[in-house]
Parts: sequence; structure tokens; C-alpha cells
Amino acid sequence: MRETPDRIRRLPEQYFTALLARVAAAAAEAGEPLVDLGRGNPELGPPEHVVRALAESAARPDVHGYAPFAGLPALKEAIAARYREVYGVEVDPAREVAVLPGTKTGLMEFALCAVERGGTIVLPDPGYPDYFSAVALAGAQPGSFSGFDAPADAMYLNYPSNPTAAAAPAGVFAEAVDWAQRTGAWVLHDFAYGDLVFDGRRPQSFLSAEGARDVGIELFSMSKSYGMAGWRLGFALGSVELIRRIENLQDHAFAGIFRPVQEAGIAALTGPQDSVEERRATYERRRDRALSALDGLDARSEGTFFVWFRLPGAATVERLLVEHRVAVAPGEGFGTRGAGWARLSLAVTDETLDRGLERIAAAFG
Ligand SMILES: Cc1ncc(COP(=O)(O)O)c(C=O)c1O
Repeated sequence: MRETPDRIRRLPEQYFTALLARVAAAAAEAGEPLVDLGRGNPELGPPEHVVRALAESAARPDVHGYAPFAGLPALKEAIAARYREVYGVEVDPAREVAVLPGTKTGLMEFALCAVERGGTIVLPDPGYPDYFSAVALAGAQPGSFSGFDAPADAMYLNYPSNPTAAAAPAGVFAEAVDWAQRTGAWVLHDFAYGDLVFDGRRPQSFLSAEGARDVGIELFSMSKSYGMAGWRLGFALGSVELIRRIENLQDHAFAGIFRPVQEAGIAALTGPQDSVEERRATYERRRDRALSALDGLDARSEGTFFVWFRLPGAATVERLLVEHRVAVAPGEGFGTRGAGWARLSLAVTDETLDRGLERIAAAFG
């Protein structure tokens, strides 16, 4: 018998794979075309100059070998410049930045690099399901966030939050740093939706809290801010010690990122930034439409491209899917405290969103 190793067996069922399969099965049934507001896959690609930078770079003969394993220094400088100019944070590009093949990879690497087997990692509940995968892969135990008092070995934070669409509450990063200093734990802040905040809020980097870089890292993704989800490019920034461990792990497990992708990343970070604000404003406008269509429900969104809402009465996500042919993500898929809630995505066309909102409003009306 070729037994599956424990570390693979303990990986949780991939929540989004299961969700997509359920939606595909419902879509295949006879009836009105299904409206899918369940997934969070940006529908708007990067600006044209970024695509052009990729194409021009890929046309050169000298870019097809292995890229430097630790990433291009100019790419690290470009993200450091964004941190300085947009978030008001100085980072040392040489020692405080790692280039990642997407931040999903960084979520796994943090758990592997920060916590010994059997350790405890506190997770948001409800929270992004991949945090559970990271805990499982590292052979750690998940704990549910209930304030900054319990001892643990590490904590994942995520503002603005997927799925609750909450922006960072005032003082939360300072509290997290204080907790980490008291307990000796590491903190990861997942900033995947950092630039997508509404109602005049400013993006809030974890690294702007005093002492944050001594106790943790922040993950910045190119996926949401620049519409580059399929490109697989992101960063870890902060603790010199953790960055060193992550780069060491990447040296063993990966062999760098295709140079044209990195060069296009530089173009995205250093070129015109209007697309970032346009994207943010588009999601805010759609958020406004969604909240007004769901008037009377407990529906919230301070950022991200999601709206989080409480299912009224006997409504369920299953009934929305089967009886009303609109897919949303069930809250319990994000943790036990998500039960009775659902997440809808704004990362769809205006037409799809409007059709989906009409169906949800009709279902609850
Ligand atoms: C909260 C959160 N973190 C991280 C990621 C991963 O982003 P990427 O791997 O594309 O950088 C996602 C993607 O949906 C997300 O929703």
C-alpha cells in the first residue's frame, strides 16, 4: 500500500473547488442561466501598459533562463516605493522584502517558516479558508480569534477582510503588535485587498504600526490592486528574520518567477496609477448598488470586492442557488461564526451584478 502522507491527508477539503463544483452542477440543470456571484476572481485585467511590458520583455532573447531566485532588485525597490508613497511606510528592499509567486503561496510559507509542528495559529473566524490549509500543512493547530489575550505561536489578520469586507478597526494593528511582543508570537497581515477601501478610508498597512516589522510580515498581492490574479505575483514585507526564512524556503522549493512577469510588475508599480483608483471606485460604486438593492438586510462592505450579508428568515444559499438561480458563497465555508451569513462578489460585470441582485431581492422580498 502506498499510504498518503499525513501532511497531505490533513489538508482540508478545498472550499472553493467544492463551491465551484456545486455551482457548475446547478448551472447544468434546466432553467434560467445561472448568475454567479459566488467567486472572487477579478473581472478587470491590468492596464494596457503592463500587458505591453510583459510582451516586450518576453520578446527579448535574454529573459528565458532562470531569473534570480530571490527576485529582481528593481522589483523589490518598486514595491518599497509604493509602500513609501501610498502607505507611508519605509522598508529596506534588500532585507525586508521577498518576492512571491502570489500571496497564496506566502500564506503557506509563513506557517512553515514561523511555527513548529504542534504549535497554535490563531485565525480570523469567519476568514479566508486557505489559512486552514496553511495551518494543516505546517502540522499546527488552528485557534479561533477571540481577542488579543490568548497565547499562541502565530496569528493571521486580514483587513479589509475576506469574507466580512470589514476595514481595519482603529488600533487593531497596535494591539496585535503588543500581543505579539508579550507572547513571542508572529503575526501575518494579509493585505490582499489593501487598496480596495471605501467611504474615504485610506489603505492601512500593518507595517505602519510601531514595532510591526519586528513581529511579523504583511503580504501585498498584485492580484486585486492591479487585476493580475492569473499572473501570480506578490510580496512579503516586514521582519528581516521571516523574510530570510521565506527566501531560504523558496530557494529550495522554487526557482524564481519568469522575468517578464517581474518586469511587468515593475511597470505596474512604477507606471501610471490611475487604474488602481478606477478599480477601487468601480467596486465602491457596485457596493453602493448592492447595499441599496439589499436595503432592509444586514449587509456590510467597507472594502474588498465583496458584500457580506445576513440571510433573512429561512433563506439559505442552497435555496438561492436552486430556486432563484443565483450563486453566493455560504458564510459557514469561512468558519463556524459565518453560519447564517453569505458573501456576494462585486468582481463581475455591472449587468451580472444587477441581474443577481434582482434575484436575491426577489427571493427575500
Ligand atoms: C484574503 C485573501 N488572501 C490572499 C489571497 C490570494 O491572493 P494571490 O495569491 O492571488 O496573491 C486571496 C485571493 O483570493 C484572498 O482573498
